[in-house]
Amino acid sequence: MMINSGLIQILKLLALKGAGRDYIDITTTALGEDMEMSQQSASRKLYNLLNLGLIEEQRFGRRISVKITSRGMDLLKKEFMDYQRIFEFSEYLEINGEVVSGLGEGKYYIMKDGYYNQIKEKLFFEPYPGTLNIRVYAKDLPKVDTLKNLPGIGIRGFVSEGRTFGSVKAFLCTINSEEGAVIIPERSHYTDIIEVISPKNLRKSLDLEDRSPVELVIYL
Ligand code: CDP
Repeated sequence: MMINSGLIQILKLLALKGAGRDYIDITTTALGEDMEMSQQSASRKLYNLLNLGLIEEQRFGRRISVKITSRGMDLLKKEFMDYQRIFEFSEYLEINGEVVSGLGEGKYYIMKDGYYNQIKEKLFFEPYPGTLNIRVYAKDLPKVDTLKNLPGIGIRGFVSEGRTFGSVKAFLCTINSEEGAVIIPERSHYTDIIEVISPKNLRKSLDLEDRSPVELVIYL
């Protein structure tokens, strides 16, 4: 099931009532009134939040106590970052470059469960299988160094089929007008190539081919 805006609204309401810090007592009737929906809808939405691992609950007879999980708080944080972007309060870097082809390995890495599931969990999108490689123009290379020295969103490494897959960090970004994330290996050698993932096939949605210029806005 996908996370929809209705669920985010309830999560926000629960957070405003303090459920980000501790268990709070609720009734589905009161929740329904607050959300201007029926008790049944509120109850169903609560069940969906639970199923998605965004809240945890304890029930004592008819009393319900809920608390937002760290995954739920991460989702709210992502919403918060979106608003920061909208109101231009967030720090960002602009990087210009051009599209290049890689060795066709991106797909293999992105589709590894160890990476794919963490991307879904931490970046809140299902990535198109592959990475779009961007060769950064020389003038913006110092900004790539800056990224390497910032924490970003951590994606843990793992071992699979006897191989080690290194940890990477991600930064949410827009590329031209599309949303995505830049991913940078923790142990990267010098390179002028950065890799972008996105829910969409960017070559198609942005009509890109090799050497097409792109502008990345990378949120720190
Ligand atoms: O190594 P290369 O980047 O060329 O291949 P890949 O990572 O396996 O990705 C397959 C193809 O999809 C490449 O042509 C990428 O440029 C493209 N791609 C895209 O258009 N949009 C994405 N979000 C990811 C990859």
